[in-house]
Amino acid sequence: MANKIVVIGSSNTDMVLKTERFPKPGETILGGDFFVFQGGKGANQAVAAARLGGDVSFICKVGNDAFGSEAIQHYAKEGIETEGILQDGQAPTGVAVITVNGQGENCIVVASGANALLSVKDIENADFILENADWLITQLETPLPVVEYLSAYAVGYKKKLILNPAPAAQLPTTVYEGLFLITPNESEAELLTGIEVTNEETAKEAAAIFKARGVQNVIITLGSKGAYVDCEGYEGIVASFQVKAIDTTAAGDVFNGALVVALAEGKGWHDAVVFACKAASVSVTKMGAQTSAPVRDEIETTEVLTR
Ligand code: RIB
Repeated sequence: MANKIVVIGSSNTDMVLKTERFPKPGETILGGDFFVFQGGKGANQAVAAARLGGDVSFICKVGNDAFGSEAIQHYAKEGIETEGILQDGQAPTGVAVITVNGQGENCIVVASGANALLSVKDIENADFILENADWLITQLETPLPVVEYLSAYAVGYKKKLILNPAPAAQLPTTVYEGLFLITPNESEAELLTGIEVTNEETAKEAAAIFKARGVQNVIITLGSKGAYVDCEGYEGIVASFQVKAIDTTAAGDVFNGALVVALAEGKGWHDAVVFACKAASVSVTKMGAQTSAPVRDEIETTEVLTR
């Protein structure tokens, strides 16, 4: 089974504040509990995949500081191979300031720190990790040249590269040609294609644009509505599971981490997306990014999940 997963992406320390509602510009409000969690889209996807049984290596850059050292220890405890994690003295570990409101929605601002210093040279030096990969997964919280390099690498070495284009940014057309799969949410799909994704029909239109650019498979996540899938052998909506949302932070990351595990295990597209939707649904019932990523038993037995 082709199952080695390499995640290339960001690692942040998340500073999370609960509040009933988001403040308006210029307004001070009194909030509730404050938490410090491990986060970063790359790290969240790596942890989600490892908790669900994936064989995961993580390539990222953190600062040569306490947050960076804690993060590396934490990833090792999660069973992730950390040989590809670099500590850089030029910038601090990335930090995300996150506010979560009473409906479980969030606002996130990221200070990229060392994530912004992850370079193509770093990725070339990690070739001993990439060469053993069957699946590569990356996001847009690290510099674009890294994504461009990975796309060309995936073509050259026949690796399956998944891009979760978050946070959304315009991409050079050549990046699309190396993608086995792209997994935007509605707003990311709109920024990248110009199509406002509101239903199955518009999701289909956006997916067609990605495919015309050379992407092999497209999954557009639709929040609580599930995901639109346009992949080899399956096309249509996969419904999500209904849960009471406490914190939606990293639901997309958990979806992507679970999805790559399911694909690496050889599940078909429909079953893989159902598995990923379940994992994401469980994650929103708990606070935090990596703290909310489920283990396997939770998504197979949890009773909160109903269609
Ligand atoms: O997707 C959620 C993540 O976005 C948070 O963990 C935060 O670090 C930002 O990267």
